[in-house]
Amino acid sequence: MPATQTTSHFAMQPAPDSLAFALNNAARALAAVRAGTALPAALTALFAEIDVPAARGAIQDIAYRTLRALGRADALLAALVRKPPPAPVANLLTCALALLSDEPESAIYTPFTVVDQAVCAANVQPATRPMKGLVNAVLRNFLRSRATLLAQIMHDPVARWNHPRWWIDEVRTAWPIAWEEILSAGNTHAPLTLRVNQRRSTVAEYLDVLHTAQIPAVAAGPSAVRLLRALPVERVPGFMQGVVSVQDASAQRAAPLLEIRPGMRVLDACAAPGGKTGHLLELAEIDLVALEVDQARAMRIEQNLSRLQLMATVCIGNASSPDEWWDGRLFDRVLIDAPCSGSGIVRRHPDIRWLRRPADLAALAREQQRMLAALWPLLKPGGELVYATCSIFPIEGERQAQWFEGKQQDAVRLSAPGQLLPSTALPGCASNTDDRDGFFYARFRKQ
Ligand SMILES: C[S@@+](CC[C@H](N)C(=O)[O-])C[C@H]1O[C@@H](n2cnc3c(N)ncnc32)[C@H](O)[C@@H]1O
Repeated sequence: MPATQTTSHFAMQPAPDSLAFALNNAARALAAVRAGTALPAALTALFAEIDVPAARGAIQDIAYRTLRALGRADALLAALVRKPPPAPVANLLTCALALLSDEPESAIYTPFTVVDQAVCAANVQPATRPMKGLVNAVLRNFLRSRATLLAQIMHDPVARWNHPRWWIDEVRTAWPIAWEEILSAGNTHAPLTLRVNQRRSTVAEYLDVLHTAQIPAVAAGPSAVRLLRALPVERVPGFMQGVVSVQDASAQRAAPLLEIRPGMRVLDACAAPGGKTGHLLELAEIDLVALEVDQARAMRIEQNLSRLQLMATVCIGNASSPDEWWDGRLFDRVLIDAPCSGSGIVRRHPDIRWLRRPADLAALAREQQRMLAALWPLLKPGGELVYATCSIFPIEGERQAQWFEGKQQDAVRLSAPGQLLPSTALPGCASNTDDRDGFFYARFRKQ
C-alpha cells in the first residue's frame, strides 16, 4: 500500500506512515543486501527493530522494487554524481531513483512526492543530513534529463537487464535465443499461484468459490489457480483451512511426476518449507519421510502440514550423509529438490542475482552430485528418483542429469519436463495461463 506524505522537512523523525520513513528503511535493507544478507532476512531483522507494522508493506515494496531495478538505479546514480556519495546517501538515492525510473504505468508515487520525501528522509538521519542538498539536486537533475539519462545508461547491460554481468553472460550462453525473455521475466512481479488440495476441492470448484468472492482468477494447471491480483494469504479463501497452498505452477509439476501410489514409502530429501511434501501427501496415502538439514526451516514443514492436516515423518539430517539418519528401509520413490542457485525464481527473490557469485554454481553442482550419489542406494530396485532444481543454468539441470545417467549404470532415464524456462503472462490477461518460474526436472528408474 503506498505510504502517505505527512512529513515536514523540519520534523526530526518522519511519521511511520510517510514515504520518507519507508525510503530510509528500504535503504537500510538495501545496505544489508549489499553486505551479503538475503532480503527476507534483512527485512525480518529490520521489522523486529523498528516494530512499526503499518510501515512494513511500503518498506518491503520499495526494497523489492529497488532490487528489481538495482542495475538501472546504480547506473543512473553513477551518471548523476561526480564522485560516489557515502553509502547511506547512495542507498537512499538508489531507492529513490529506482522508484523515479519505474515505467510510468507501474509507478506508485508521483515524482514530486518521491523527491520531497527523499529529501525529508535525508534530513532526519545524521549520516545523510549534511547531504540533503545533494539528494535534492541529484533527483531533480534526473527528472530534468530523464529520457536522455535512461537512453544513455541502456548501453550498459547491467543497467538494461538489472542482473549482474556474469549472470547475463551465463543466461546468454545457455539460452542464445530465449535469453532476453528470461532476463525480462526475472524483472516482473510474480503472480500468486495456488495449488488446490485435491482431497478437499477441485480447480473448477475452487474457481467458483473465487468467483463468488469476486476474486478474479484463472486455471493454471491440473491443480493450479492463478489470481489475477495478489492478495495477502490470510484473505485467500480456504488457505487457513488447507484447501489451497501457495505454489508456483512449475513447482506443482514435482509431486505428480513421482507417480506415487497408496502405501509407498517416499523420501522428500530437501523438504523445507514443505511445499512439495504437502502436495505429495495430498495425492495419496503414503509413508513420507521429509528430510531437511536446517532445523529452523524444518519447523516450517510442520507448520505447513498442520495447516493441511496431513502427516509426515520430519527428519533433521544431511541428504548427502544417509548414515547419520537413515533407518535402512529402502524407498519406492525419492524426490531431490536440491539446493541450487535459484536462478529460475529471481522474479520472486530479486536479491538472489546480486547475492550469488560465479563460483557458487560449481560449488552447488558438486553438492547436487553428492546428494544424487548418496541417495540412489536408498531406492528399491524398480523405484524412481526425481531430481529437481529451481534453476535455469544447465550446470544444475541437464548437465547433472547427463552426468548421473553416465555414472549410474543401473539408472534408466524416464520422460520428465526437463528444463522449464520462466514465462510471464500478460498482466490481467485471463487467456494466457502459461505463467511460471524456471525449473528443471529429470526422472530415473532403478533397474
Ligand atoms: C529448494 S529448497 C526445497 C523446497 C521444498 N522442496 C519445497 O517444495 O518447499 C532446498 C532445501 O534443501 C535444504 N538443504 C540444503 N542442503 C541440504 C542437505 N544437504 N540435506 C538436506 N536438506 C538440505 C535447504 O535448507 C532447503 O530447505
